[in-house]
Amino acid sequence: MTNREQTSFFPDDGLIPEKYRLISPIEQRHYLCDGVIKDWCGPQQKVFSPICETVDQIVRPRHIGCFPLLTSEQAEEALEAACRAYDHGRGAWPTMSVEERIRHVEAFTLRMQEARDEIVKLLMWEIGKTLPDSEKEFDRTIDYIRDTIDSLKELDRLSSRFVIEKGVLGQIRRAPLGVVLCMGPFNYPLNETFTTLIPALIMGNTVIFKPPKLGVLLFKPLLKAFQDSFPKGVINTVYGDGQTVIGPLMKSGKIDVLAFIGTSRVADILKHQHPTPHRLRCVLGLDAKNAAIVLKDADIENAVKECALGSLSFNGQRCTALKIIFVHREIADEFIGTFSEAVSMLEGGMPWEPGVRITPLPEPDKTTYLTGLIEDACQKGARIVNPDGGTVKHTFMSPAVVYPVEPGMKLYTDEQFGPIVPIAVFSDTAEPMNYVTQSNYGQQVSLFGSNPGLLAELLDPLVNQVCRVNINSQCQRGPDTFPFTGRKDSAEGTLSVSDALRVFTIRTLVAAKTTEANKQIINAIVKERKSRFLSTDFIL
Ligand code: G3H
Repeated sequence: MTNREQTSFFPDDGLIPEKYRLISPIEQRHYLCDGVIKDWCGPQQKVFSPICETVDQIVRPRHIGCFPLLTSEQAEEALEAACRAYDHGRGAWPTMSVEERIRHVEAFTLRMQEARDEIVKLLMWEIGKTLPDSEKEFDRTIDYIRDTIDSLKELDRLSSRFVIEKGVLGQIRRAPLGVVLCMGPFNYPLNETFTTLIPALIMGNTVIFKPPKLGVLLFKPLLKAFQDSFPKGVINTVYGDGQTVIGPLMKSGKIDVLAFIGTSRVADILKHQHPTPHRLRCVLGLDAKNAAIVLKDADIENAVKECALGSLSFNGQRCTALKIIFVHREIADEFIGTFSEAVSMLEGGMPWEPGVRITPLPEPDKTTYLTGLIEDACQKGARIVNPDGGTVKHTFMSPAVVYPVEPGMKLYTDEQFGPIVPIAVFSDTAEPMNYVTQSNYGQQVSLFGSNPGLLAELLDPLVNQVCRVNINSQCQRGPDTFPFTGRKDSAEGTLSVSDALRVFTIRTLVAAKTTEANKQIINAIVKERKSRFLSTDFIL
């Protein structure tokens, strides 16, 4: 940070490597509806980057583009297009063979890969994600799509056989649910959106997709790829204010699945808008305040490394981030000293700069909110323990390690979703265990220690409070084949490569008594390939 302070923190254009420079604002004036990329001449939402610029000695967020502020009319058109393409399960897409649907998704993936550089660049500009993390988000998404295809092939192979039970023969497969509304979060706008959108599509549902509030322009290069790769109406995009475009969709009662990653507050609003909530399936990734519990026999070096990664990767803006650390009183001084040093080593700067780990924050006024959290804690007896912690430069905040955080402080319970690391001390493991039990959230926990007996004693109750207990490592979603979910306010439904194929489908079967006549009918259907459902075709 010291070099930085001699010049302006935010570079002028000339200092930005050409490859990562944005030449002019990106005018996103189109949306995809019913297989047509439509022009939008109405109002536009301006997009500002967290990476500021200096104009007339005033530092302000850069204007980097705009996207359509559609109205309920366009949202309803998108809904009608998705409903027509699904056509009560009779549409070409939901009745298409799995093999053919896979071919469409593969074609899309090839097109998506052509847009890698552009999408990576926009991830940096729109949400301030570092270059390595932006590349990782893109590549991880491609891997996820490939793994999804493999998993579907495996699922289809298992379903390509008949079962005979108690004189009844049947073929059981997973069938789509209908129209899916997909909305991802700003922190993983591409990856988390696609971890629902791709499985929903590939299983035969039709989709309406709304990009998150931040991280919208990066989908521009994909509109044509969507249009070219899928039959009309199978995927439709809506842009704009959530209340304006999403409200009417939910109130129509025609959304069959809500795939939403965001806050539980918004999820509740959306669910309640549906006129027949029992018909609505929900796949939700929501709030979390994952705790790390550092026991007195923990390997401090490892705990510090994992807690720094876990709490400050992408500035703490991960749903899985460690958002409070409980440290045993006997090792608190050593842990806090080493942890503060580790945090001081994290370089702040622009996303494309090599070695940079902490970057500007994309949410408007986020630094004001975070400063308020720190002030609240400090007024109630905590302090910032690392040098420069909490220093704000417009959209940038140096990570702040705040200690000792106690009940009654906002940082004890609020999901800060930013570069603040609250540290609490405990003498008895009952204290952090009670914290987890009483928390509104139930996603994950990290346990640091070396005594197998004590770890086992803690993890047994913890697995019934959260959905993943990480031993001597940070909390995280991956590997993507592992189930990712949460209890209480943290999630509904489970996502993983294979679970996602299940959550967007329902098991349905064709069954018949094993009479001679029925056997002959079924044999004829299968042998003459008259049905796509009733089939023993095997995808290789
Ligand atoms: O924001 C929540 C993400 O699912 C976290 O994923 O743990 O791989 O960063 P991650």
